[in-house]
Amino acid sequence: MPATADPTHDLVILGGGSGGYACALRAAELGLTVALVEKAKLGGTCLHQGCIPTKALLHAAEVADNAREGATFGVRSSVDSIDMAGVLSYKDGVVGRLYKGLQGLIASRAIDYVEGEGRLSAPHTVTVGDRALVGRHVVLATGSAAKSLPGLEIGGRIVTSEQALQLDTLPGSVIVLGGGVIGVEFASVYRSFGAQVTIVEALPRLVAAEDEAVSKALERAFRKRKITALTGARFASASQDDSSVTVTLESGKTLTADLLLVAVGRGPVASGLGYEEAGVAMDRGFVLTDERCRTNVDDVYAVGDIVPGLQLAHRGFAQGIFVAEDIAGLSPRPIDDLGIPRVTYCDPEIASIGLTEAQARETFGEVTAYEYNLGGNGKSQILQTQGFVKLVRQVDGPVVGIHMIGARMGEQVGEAQLIYNWEAFPDDVASLIHAHPTQNEALGEAFLALAGKPLHAHA
Ligand code: NAI
Repeated sequence: MPATADPTHDLVILGGGSGGYACALRAAELGLTVALVEKAKLGGTCLHQGCIPTKALLHAAEVADNAREGATFGVRSSVDSIDMAGVLSYKDGVVGRLYKGLQGLIASRAIDYVEGEGRLSAPHTVTVGDRALVGRHVVLATGSAAKSLPGLEIGGRIVTSEQALQLDTLPGSVIVLGGGVIGVEFASVYRSFGAQVTIVEALPRLVAAEDEAVSKALERAFRKRKITALTGARFASASQDDSSVTVTLESGKTLTADLLLVAVGRGPVASGLGYEEAGVAMDRGFVLTDERCRTNVDDVYAVGDIVPGLQLAHRGFAQGIFVAEDIAGLSPRPIDDLGIPRVTYCDPEIASIGLTEAQARETFGEVTAYEYNLGGNGKSQILQTQGFVKLVRQVDGPVVGIHMIGARMGEQVGEAQLIYNWEAFPDDVASLIHAHPTQNEALGEAFLALAGKPLHAHA
């Protein structure tokens, strides 16, 4: 602590997104004095430009699909048109209500909420305008922003997810650059809204961080939905005029569409904020921490997307809570990134936890994998969805990976994460009863099979 500055707060948090505000709420709950600095809107990317608004769009997309496919269920219906103004107003309504609720929460916990652009001006000091907030501890939580590629300028018909969330007209055709999480979610939305969609992905498969079987199933499902996925396709350049945007691939192939959505990853927002000057160790723009979210500078922590690892809101929440509890002396257990559930909300939905089969083989050598097809699951048949639950276990050991694809499978990740994080053996889960008919039963059935006693599955 610099001798000249008396602390104004126990904790000064720079950034009011998922990581920052969760830290503030928990710290205040624990009786610490907290300042939370935010330059834009409390709630950050997740609430305003990420998780919440995109999932609202995906829900509107599902409504459109249901209307279009009503006849499959004997209900005659069709999509008259997609009213983008109506979709945006629904989405903004959801965000607005949550935003108001969050503001109320922060106000109710006696948190010193400071609006403005903050800067780490010394290891214990965040300066906002002419105000110096001196913390016994400082938490960096400045989040991430959409990346682009060299020579690819965002503007006009070339957008990132941020602009795409505000578009009030529907493109007839879209090129999605990047077949990762954002790419496949937006591809799914645009297709459901009736656009022609082409995904350009440099790697050999979509959602390359997922188990290979999941990527294959998604590619199959997207083909059926008439979404074109060009994998192993590298972007070379793009140009636009008043009527269209053209993308040229390294192979020389060109593609033309109304809109180009760039979804090639998100980068940390951590430069120009005084971190380096304060001596904080960084790598490729990310802030480095140990497993207790501590940077190399005493009393300075970092949480959320600025720290290398999964860029997920719930990881930010967990890290924020962890730091508050650590500072309060509760000695919380470090967070295992592999134990963080992952959901991709495209149609069909993807949910997973732990290691993919390939990663498990690398880690443990021999492993056992089992795939339970949703074809045998009553509720999935009622929904007319296809997919599977795949389990990966250490030979004679616990389950180390669970991978699911199919409509609504994101909702199954809750049980999957308990199984993974409690290092359950197949027999532990097989003895539990899963309600019939639910999609949750598919998990139960997969475990019955893995425990050597399949019910609605061939041995
Ligand atoms: P990502 O890292 O998931 O995917 C980016 C994709 O772009 C990769 O597959 C990459 O190979 C590809 N790519 C990069 N350069 C390319 C090039 N030159 N040509 C063609 N393809 C290229 O990043 P994404 O989708 O932008 O998402 C950013 C972050 O936001 C991720 O960490 C994701 O986890 C998070 N997120 C999470 C969501 C969820 O949990 N449901 C939803 C949306 C985002």
